[in-house]
Amino acid sequence: MTLTLETANLENSLITPLGGKLINRVKNLDPKDFAHLPTLELSERNYADLELIATGVYSPLTGFVGSKDHASIVENLRLANGLPWSIPITLGVSSEAAKTLTGQILLNYRNAPVGLLEVSEQYTPDKQEEALKVYRTTDEKHPGVAALLEQGEVNLAGDITLFEISRGDYPEHHHTPLETREQFAKKGWKTVVAFQTRNPIHRAHEYLHKVALETIDGLFLNPLVGSTKSDDVPAATRVKAYEVLLEGYYPASRVLFGVYPAAMRYAGPREAVLHAISRRNYGCTHFIVGRDHAGVGTYYGTYDAQEIFDTYSKEELGIEIIKFEHTFYCRTCGSLVSSRTCPHDSSHHLVLSGTKVREKLTAGEELPVEFTRKEVAEVLRAAYLEART
Ligand code: ADX
Repeated sequence: MTLTLETANLENSLITPLGGKLINRVKNLDPKDFAHLPTLELSERNYADLELIATGVYSPLTGFVGSKDHASIVENLRLANGLPWSIPITLGVSSEAAKTLTGQILLNYRNAPVGLLEVSEQYTPDKQEEALKVYRTTDEKHPGVAALLEQGEVNLAGDITLFEISRGDYPEHHHTPLETREQFAKKGWKTVVAFQTRNPIHRAHEYLHKVALETIDGLFLNPLVGSTKSDDVPAATRVKAYEVLLEGYYPASRVLFGVYPAAMRYAGPREAVLHAISRRNYGCTHFIVGRDHAGVGTYYGTYDAQEIFDTYSKEELGIEIIKFEHTFYCRTCGSLVSSRTCPHDSSHHLVLSGTKVREKLTAGEELPVEFTRKEVAEVLRAAYLEART
């Protein structure tokens, strides 16, 4: 399927894309016409970025960023033109490979041609500086830093073209920003809150959704399904858990479920900003940021990912951030609560970390119903059992 801007019904949209225009770099070209070009095989992460740029999720980017934008993003959390942007979207290759990758090049993924890159610049970023500023650490154990260091040392910059939208492993749940904007308009929602997640859904997530839905018209449930670190629960299991939960516990007319095909960077606060901008581009007016959003280990403070939004004015960010305190179950209140709503001390509370949950699942133990709905627990248990056999 090829999207054209002519078909975009942006007048009905609730919110403009960042930069004012929804980027569309999908062109139904015949790859055979480009077979003579130098070729570059993309990683899973690079391919995800290619698709996100091409379909406008990363508007206003039209390609992999050049050195000016790179420096400005790392230093000022903005593109060189001043628009908010928090993580450089780059394509790194080895200096050996870079020698032949000039002008127009053909991009391959899993050995098939998927698009083009007009190489307008090659530059060598200071990765230590990038790691320190973007990830707040140079520790190679940090999965985002590791991925950055793994990329080749030379960045290729320039506008991209994608031949075809792949729709990935969940075609029925894959929507481009054009499509989500059309859906939101059709549903008549005036406000839409987006939810990013990379973990199996639990009761605290559901609580955040439902508190938001008390005042916002629609929920765009948008789990990340691109590459994650190896001990995160696989996307296929998470998607199944969402399906059963939506079926039993959410009003269908108030929710749109769609996958977010990006790779996880674990950049905490900076990634929260990228997540918010992407959801604005999908047409959402609000974005939920809870505790330790996009965090990993102990690299970030619990609410760093909320505080970073003070960098920008409400007008320039466009999408409104709904901030939530750490939420958990209180046995005495008999409900989900936070320190804002519960008077009891921690001995009354049930708090399970992601690591603890994975340990319980690996040991074949039940997850408490106060933590996870039984239907979700069943999906997780079955997936862990299958993985063990
Ligand atoms: S994330 O890496 O995608 O942020 P996760 O799927 O755990 O991880 O979280 C999704 C969103 O829910 C984030 O905004 C996160 O801050 C929020 N969140 C997750 N668990 C809680 C909780 N117990 N209390 C408050 N917010 C939470």
